[in-house]
Amino acid sequence: MTLTAAEQPYRSGNLPYVETDAPVKVWLCPNDDLAPDLASVLAAHWLDEEEKETADRFLFERDRRQYLVAHTLVRRALALEAGLVEAELVIWRSPRGRPFLQPMSGGLPRGGAHLDFNLSHASGYNLLGIVRRHRIGVDVEPLDRDEQAIETIKTTFAPEEQEWIARAAPGRPRTRRVLRLWTLKEAYSKARGLGLGLPFDEFVFTLDDERGVTEFGPPADDPFTRWRFVELEPVPDVLVAVAVPADEHPPPVLQLHHGFPWGRQAPHHITLPGPVGPGAP
Ligand SMILES: CC(C)(COP(=O)(O)OP(=O)(O)OC[C@H]1O[C@@H](n2cnc3c(N)ncnc32)[C@H](O)[C@@H]1OP(=O)(O)O)[C@@H](O)C(=O)NCCC(=O)NCCS
Repeated sequence: MTLTAAEQPYRSGNLPYVETDAPVKVWLCPNDDLAPDLASVLAAHWLDEEEKETADRFLFERDRRQYLVAHTLVRRALALEAGLVEAELVIWRSPRGRPFLQPMSGGLPRGGAHLDFNLSHASGYNLLGIVRRHRIGVDVEPLDRDEQAIETIKTTFAPEEQEWIARAAPGRPRTRRVLRLWTLKEAYSKARGLGLGLPFDEFVFTLDDERGVTEFGPPADDPFTRWRFVELEPVPDVLVAVAVPADEHPPPVLQLHHGFPWGRQAPHHITLPGPVGPGAP
């Protein structure tokens, strides 16, 4: 798969500034955390013209609300991280639809030159991940997906993953296995900027009920090969997956923030698991 120059993955060695101990930051924000009127006011001040046009195109108010909360969350959290004003952030999209923060010549006011982020939204939850170097991918999925959707999703996985799913009892345990794999695969392919353009049977996860991801077989074109994957259930029955490439500077910790980033509430700190992939210890 060919990437445009702008979509090429960052390698820490190419960066003018590397924050070796910057945490991975993740926000989980339910729509209910931002009253609809307030979300509309913030959106009117913070979103760019393209985002406002997108918001206006939704047929259902529920979907418009989700979009407004998700994108005000993105601008608020990026503004805090970068030290910029929300409306001044320039966000562009790759040909495959992945949003990126436009780098600033001279670096960011709060230090560093590069921020990457990724967004996921589903059933009233918005999930945002931010890293200080290379890439991040995130996905959120509630467990209450219908049987038909679960069956369809399962057929996209690698044969050994489908066998692992079949070994679970039908119903809830099997649904959980399907959605654990799905969120991980989405997080990985979104970190790569490929989304569903990457066939989900071309890379393989081995999962353990207690230890999370124990092995990872990347697709042939993976420039990093070794990754760190975090699985969380920050709210009962809501699954979250986070994917970041592993490099020689392990991010020490993931900070999980709940709710809209109004102030500086203390996040939960989660130690990142070790790298998985070919050659991982
Ligand atoms: C990315 C994708 C997997 C998202 O699927 P989803 O489960 O419905 O949605 P999620 O809520 O998890 O994520 C949606 C967010 O991911 C981000 N996103 C969109 N495309 C992305 C991509 N290629 N890579 C990473 N993130 C992407 C966006 O922020 C999007 O939210 P927004 O549109 O409100 O900004 C899916 O939209 C996709 O495959 N897109 C690529 C389509 C493509 O290849 N187009 C090429 C046209 S030539």
